[in-house]
Amino acid sequence: MDIRNTVLRQLKNRREGFSLEQPFYIDQDYFKLDMELIYYRDWLFIGHDCEIPKAGNYFTVQIGDYPIVIVRGRDGQIRALHNSCRHRGSRVCTSERGSSAKLVCPYHQWTYELDGSLLFARQMAEDFDKTQFNLKQVHCESVGGYIFICLAQNAPDFAPVRASIEPYMKPHRLSEAKVAFQSTIIEKGNWKLVWENNRECYHCAGNHPELCRTFPEAPTVSGVQGAMSDPVIVAHWQHCEAAGLPSEFKLSADGQYRTTRMPLIEGAESYTMSGQRAVKRQLSDDVSLGGIGTMLLFHYPTTWNHVLGDHAISFRVLPLNAEETAVTTKWLVHKDAVEGVDYDLEELTHVWTETNDQDRRIVEENAFGIHSPAYEPGPYSEMHEGGVMQFVEWYSNFMINRLQGDQKLSAVA
Ligand code: FES
Ligand SMILES: [Fe+2]
Repeated sequence: MDIRNTVLRQLKNRREGFSLEQPFYIDQDYFKLDMELIYYRDWLFIGHDCEIPKAGNYFTVQIGDYPIVIVRGRDGQIRALHNSCRHRGSRVCTSERGSSAKLVCPYHQWTYELDGSLLFARQMAEDFDKTQFNLKQVHCESVGGYIFICLAQNAPDFAPVRASIEPYMKPHRLSEAKVAFQSTIIEKGNWKLVWENNRECYHCAGNHPELCRTFPEAPTVSGVQGAMSDPVIVAHWQHCEAAGLPSEFKLSADGQYRTTRMPLIEGAESYTMSGQRAVKRQLSDDVSLGGIGTMLLFHYPTTWNHVLGDHAISFRVLPLNAEETAVTTKWLVHKDAVEGVDYDLEELTHVWTETNDQDRRIVEENAFGIHSPAYEPGPYSEMHEGGVMQFVEWYSNFMINRLQGDQKLSAVA
């Protein structure tokens, strides 16, 4: 039977409050459908403005089959381009990041402007029209220091995402920060297992001794229910909002993204072993208030984030195949903070480096067990895993909508 119909039927008949059927976590055809309907069609967080502060700065990224380059133009604008030469398709930018006055293909040196327009192609025919061979553009938006791209021909409206994220991000001035450190780990598990693990702290006490020194395990903090009736959280929002920091819990109507500001364990300022700040210099010159906890943003399918008073941590989730996922973590500090003076890199990165590795092992064990022919979907804890249920709900609805929408389109065509 056609894979699209199979997936549609399974998602429509899925047992609510239970994990998904086995093929959603291990099957290549299901994975391809995830890529086609989600990663190739929706907005993806890809990196930060501050990683490419000057004209000609670029970084590259691979989304499934698509090599992409993100580059800042001479006009200051950030653009995303398909990193596939219009001559015979070679990758134009081959390194992970760099800086260049022009984008020059290494194969036959076709030369592109930073906006992707073809400037020069050696010894082509007299009537060669170079305006027809610009690098193809990818939709690209930047909000609050975060760059999002969309590979679809017609991108979904970004305005609602911008309207939700911008007020929460703005005070932290992340577009002017700098990346103090970044790491990419490969987790041997489907991208949805990476997300399911992220969306609950039911596993934290047993697995994250470093994180649990400062991050509360309460499901009202990590999940999607009950924050409004938790007096500690409400008092925290009042404390932060009085200083002009938007803080209340906001979940988009379709469940794809959430912003909120949560307290850390009492007295903690940052994710360090002591709970004290990791960076002497505040992340933002506009935020001097202490005790602001962590501003949490998730946007499915690529990012979750923590923005603290002294630094911020972004996470990017990119699937490599049905059973491998790359998770990139970036630690951002004030652009003038000096390593060894304002912060110690080991202290800054310790808690989340350990936590990431613990999560990697958890995800890999989860994936291992799901391979068993004896696996069957199991029940989530309503008390602790509301966030996971919400993620699976979003995934199912999103896939069903796209599968049904595509059916309608092909019926029209
Ligand atoms: S493939 Fe790029 S110049 Fe030939
Ligand atoms: Fe975890």
